[in-house]
Amino acid sequence: MGNGDISWSCVRCGRAFGAARPDACVVCGTEAPSILGIPILTFRPHVSIDALRTQLATVPDAAQPVNREAVKRVLDPALAQTEGLPRRPIGTSDFMATRMAGWEDRFTYLYIDWTDTEEFRADRAFVLDAVLRHCPDRSVAAVLGCGAGGLVASLATAFPASLGLDVSLPHLLLADHLLRGGALSLQLPQARWRQVSMRGPTTPPRGAGFIVADAAALPFAPGSISLVVTQYLLDIAGAPTFIAREINRVLSPGGVWLNLGLPFRRSSDPPDAGLLTCDDMPAFLDDLAFDALEIRRRRAMFHDLSALDEWLPASVHSTIFFAAKKRGDLAPDPVARAFEGHAARRGTAILDMIPRLIAGRRIHLLEGWSFGPGGAKPRVELIAASGKSMSIPGPLGAFLRRLLSSIDGERTAREVLAAVGSASDDALTEDDFVVLLRTLMLRGWLEIGQTRPSAQRQP
Ligand SMILES: C[S@@+](CC[C@H](N)C(=O)[O-])C[C@H]1O[C@@H](n2cnc3c(N)ncnc32)[C@H](O)[C@@H]1O
Repeated sequence: MGNGDISWSCVRCGRAFGAARPDACVVCGTEAPSILGIPILTFRPHVSIDALRTQLATVPDAAQPVNREAVKRVLDPALAQTEGLPRRPIGTSDFMATRMAGWEDRFTYLYIDWTDTEEFRADRAFVLDAVLRHCPDRSVAAVLGCGAGGLVASLATAFPASLGLDVSLPHLLLADHLLRGGALSLQLPQARWRQVSMRGPTTPPRGAGFIVADAAALPFAPGSISLVVTQYLLDIAGAPTFIAREINRVLSPGGVWLNLGLPFRRSSDPPDAGLLTCDDMPAFLDDLAFDALEIRRRRAMFHDLSALDEWLPASVHSTIFFAAKKRGDLAPDPVARAFEGHAARRGTAILDMIPRLIAGRRIHLLEGWSFGPGGAKPRVELIAASGKSMSIPGPLGAFLRRLLSSIDGERTAREVLAAVGSASDDALTEDDFVVLLRTLMLRGWLEIGQTRPSAQRQP
């Protein structure tokens, strides 16, 4: 085993911190608050904290009484801790971060990972076997999009440091409660509200912990992680290539990436291209400077609830398993550099670049009415580039309409900001706008080119 030392860096400006992570980046000022020992290492940590406050305020309406009590018992101390933190304004442009921080419908993940299900036992054995066969250097393991965090606990048996990263603070607080030996009794919506009791290990695994972070903007220094695991993440990530680039950046030389999950697509793929499967993995990995060690289709149970009730679904998926070794560093990406440079106040090159929406990834904004016993209500529905649809507040709809119509593939980011910022209800600062642009790019809503298409056509 290695020594498990973690080397950190700033998610926004890339500043390397070494082993001592500061409360705020000395270069760009990005804060790194912790809630009940879980650091929040994202572009906008205050948004996760605000989302925790507002979502907890809505728990009484959203959940069954049993769930409401159980969730509040765990999350109330977290909420109390947020009271001591300064409040920062949340603008309309923060909607991407707010949207991703939900906890609803996540209880099945907790049930699978923390009640000794056959499904979790199979996944754990599979991953630990792959670690034994492919991963000689065992210092720091990171599970990206770790959800309920069962694998984080399992990997702590093989690594001195095992970290679970996810964008959802409420979900990680529940997972951490279990990891530290706590108990939780929940009624599962997907299991016809059957109640399940779960409990973490009597001896909490040493070296295991959680971090709120985006898999496409990791808080680790280059070359600092020995193993990265992604499980059911690439298929839901809007732009898996950015996640893969980050994995390449943080893995140590010869470090290993294990992936288990459904077929997925890159945002750059033509609209009519199918999903990538095992056959496409050698080229996908090669492009990202990984050597494939093993690629195969794996039949895996997914959220099998049949042990709870014989009428509940027992589902088995064909999944992609690969183990890949980092071959070398990727060439630096000029767009990523420009974003980091802007955060570090080293330049504004990013504002001279051209954002454009991606062909075949249409975003729909549907404005209409919904009718019910309470009368008619205006309603705005957003169907994102990923195909996921959600109801959004009217002012956000108006903001998105201005933003998306300004991104015409000709205007620079600076010109888009001028068009959107002046018409915004809340003051949209240049920093807010650049963070929003970066988040939209990392989620696969848009891409950013260095020059205008018309300039490229000139001889
Ligand atoms: C389908 S669940 C899978 C959870 C877990 N890996 C498992 O297999 O049980 C995907 C998880 O990834 C998280 N997630 C989604 N996008 C993410 C991102 N960009 N960075 C980090 N976590 C993300 C979600 O919050 C969710 O917990």
